[in-house]
Amino acid sequence: MIVGIIGQGYVGLTITTFAAEFFEVIGFDNNQRIVDQLNSGISHIEGVQSSVLQKWIKAGRYKATTSGSDIADVDLVVIAVPTPLSKDRQPDLTYIDAACKTIGENIKKPVLVINESTSFPGTLRNYIKPAVERYSKVPIENLYAISPERVDPGRTDYNQKNTPRLYAGLTAEASEKTRDFYSRFCDKLLEVSSPEVAEAAKLFENTFRQVNIALVNEFAQITNALGISVYETLDAANTKPYGFMKFTPSAGVGGHCIPVDPTYLAAIAEQHGAPATFIRRANDVNLEMSKYVVDRVEADNGGTVEGKSVLVVGVAYKPNVADVRETAAELVIKHLRQRGAVVSWHDDVVGTWHGESSAPLFGADIAIVVTKHDSVKDEEVIASAPYVFDTTGSLKDARGL
Ligand SMILES: NC(=O)c1ccc[n+]([C@@H]2O[C@H](COP(=O)([O-])OP(=O)(O)OC[C@H]3O[C@@H](n4cnc5c(N)ncnc54)[C@H](O)[C@@H]3O)[C@@H](O)[C@H]2O)c1
Repeated sequence: MIVGIIGQGYVGLTITTFAAEFFEVIGFDNNQRIVDQLNSGISHIEGVQSSVLQKWIKAGRYKATTSGSDIADVDLVVIAVPTPLSKDRQPDLTYIDAACKTIGENIKKPVLVINESTSFPGTLRNYIKPAVERYSKVPIENLYAISPERVDPGRTDYNQKNTPRLYAGLTAEASEKTRDFYSRFCDKLLEVSSPEVAEAAKLFENTFRQVNIALVNEFAQITNALGISVYETLDAANTKPYGFMKFTPSAGVGGHCIPVDPTYLAAIAEQHGAPATFIRRANDVNLEMSKYVVDRVEADNGGTVEGKSVLVVGVAYKPNVADVRETAAELVIKHLRQRGAVVSWHDDVVGTWHGESSAPLFGADIAIVVTKHDSVKDEEVIASAPYVFDTTGSLKDARGL
């Protein structure tokens, strides 16, 4: 069986390396630089080892391509392209549409199309299937299924193999074939009654996190106003053996999932006349944390950061990854610059970002820690400025949330 995977990013490349153990895999990506890099055996994704990629290339089991015609003979195709928000923060399915175009225009025999990109309930049935059929020049009856990806980049305890996978096909045959595919490399598969349930479950998982993070971010503001430690209070609450799950405060949420997926759920809810008030408010609370952080820093520094050199430590959205999508650091930097601070940032995992390079970890008036990678030493952060504000709760001798 030949498998085509559309999108060779975090999700697509991860699934590629697992699938290549059993199938020949064609990785289609429209970014030539990524494709060239992958074909030379270099992974651009943390968690996907270059050596594994090289093994599959050498065995003739993997090749990356920008050419749609290379997927003409696949038997199964997985969609793993971005599903971001548009400028007005609405679901943006243009990448999905482009992936459907690639499939529709190039597939010459019926295939199983599995969507792994996160989107709102109804995307497979009402959007992907009609789009593939619209672009197809020959009337072929493809099968369609959804299996939302739950990968957490950088995580080592849970991976493709031991993370239970939800799936559902539009037909029983699609479900069965989807199960056959994933059962090769996933220990636990759970079929749900419709693609819409699988799509909604994925959105709810991330909405649950978004709302709880917002709650703890609001709680951090309450504990600060009360003059008590948010961390000590959370640790105390966490001694309850049931009915409590600890989340920790931060400068906001980042990455592709938590700041984005709940908005997909809110959008489809409102389209159907259902309320999404928690989701909308949680999103606002998380976005406002960056301003709160800068307010706190100003309050500790004579009421202003104007003219002061401020080093933002860690601009990736979470530790030990280079991913800066929707990072809270972006808003922290924006507020600092609007208030006249001279801002640089240090993050050697990210390296360069927005045309700027990672600055040395010393010599600032103020340091604000947004993300702390394991490679960054606590003592060096503390020594980087006379005043350090830590939003991660990991530095003993710093001011913090
Ligand atoms: N990153 C995660 O942790 C994660 C986890 C679960 C689900 N998801 C979801 O999976 C989907 C993909 O996310 P990702 O993190 O892998 O994104 P990514 O940005 O890492 O990778 C997407 C890849 O798709 C390519 N691409 C864009 N348009 C294309 C097109 N028309 N044809 C072919 N390739 C195209 C890009 O060049 C890129 O390499 C999203 O819907 C996301 O919400 C992501």
